[in-house]
Amino acid sequence: MIKKIVVLFSGEGSNLQNLITSLPCNINIVAAITNKPDAGGIQKANRANIPVYVLEHTGFDAREAFDDALVSMIQDIEHDLVVLAGFMRILTPHFTKNIKSINLHPSLLPLFKGAKAIERSFESEEKKGGISVHWVSEELDGGTIILQKSFLKNSDETLDNFKKKIQSLEYELLPLAIEKILLE
Ligand code: GRF
Repeated sequence: MIKKIVVLFSGEGSNLQNLITSLPCNINIVAAITNKPDAGGIQKANRANIPVYVLEHTGFDAREAFDDALVSMIQDIEHDLVVLAGFMRILTPHFTKNIKSINLHPSLLPLFKGAKAIERSFESEEKKGGISVHWVSEELDGGTIILQKSFLKNSDETLDNFKKKIQSLEYELLPLAIEKILLE
């Protein structure tokens, strides 16, 4: 039985690319959606022949109106799960009540919810950094955790190095979380 996912992204789409290359063949990315017409992930989806749709949030007066359009777009696509991989939008209940989705967040939630999580986590007194994959709920970065993984900060850690560690954990955990939900 093939499972179908829709991936939402706003930027480079390196996590989208990682999903393209690392998900097992019984999980298909049936569509990718972005709110940014210049997102690097668009090319990556095109190269993998994944239909990609651009829905610009700037074309909407209110957050709810954008979310309603996004929900309609997603509901027109047959899918089992929606994956937010670097989708940089705060979602309203119009989205969270209608769409079953998971999100990737670059910190050990509940620490460092919201924007600039990597920088805040790096600059903090916390001894560890890490990442979380969680269910999307009405509370920003507040839904039930699916998977988390951490690493100890080095004494000579640079932000660049810290980001690389975060990224490699993201590449490891997001596909695992999707498999756990859809195949177990
Ligand atoms: C990731 O670090 C994700 O956790 C954060 O945005 C980044 C997305 O990177 N929310 P990419 O677009 O997948 O390269």
